Amino acid sequence: MNQITTQVESCANCGLSETRTKVVLGAGTLDAKIVLVGEAPGRKEDESGLPFVGSSGKLLDRLLAAAGLSRDDIFIGNIIKCRPPKNRRPKKSEVGQCEGYMMEQLEIINPAIVAPMGNSSLSYFQERFGLEKQVIGDVHGKVIDIKAPWGRTKLFPLYHPAAAIYRRHLLGELEEDMKKLGELASK
Ligand code: URA
Repeated sequence: MNQITTQVESCANCGLSETRTKVVLGAGTLDAKIVLVGEAPGRKEDESGLPFVGSSGKLLDRLLAAAGLSRDDIFIGNIIKCRPPKNRRPKKSEVGQCEGYMMEQLEIINPAIVAPMGNSSLSYFQERFGLEKQVIGDVHGKVIDIKAPWGRTKLFPLYHPAAAIYRRHLLGELEEDMKKLGELASK
């Protein structure tokens, strides 16, 4: 993992390297059974170098605690390691240049469950593993078995916490899904 950190810190594979303040590699334990994967760092993450420390992160912490989970027991990362300007959606080319880092991280961690948060992260995993394209509203909280390079894994899509901030009616569903995730991990 240290090697990946060194590579990402000096990565200039795409234009985001010119506008980033800090790279955001992800954080948590390498023994994690669960890896949560967001889209890309936002402003607070770019400033601090840590994932999910802004308003989405605060909500995520509350959801994790309510589900009996803690950041110390899991790993949280993003598909993209650098903030896209004005938090725009990452371009396909940027994902293409960056995804290898996330895949290497997953191979090292070898998690039983990968939880993509939001449509962008979900769509990446669907493409990567040849799954049928479905939107998060249809597959959130459902277990999808995949055969990943690091072994058999459960994909467990979640709404992105930011979606539940802007659309409060999603909050209850996200709370329920997070609890299911906690139960799944304790099996
Ligand atoms: N949103 C994300 O997808 N990732 C972060 O790290 C922060 C906000």
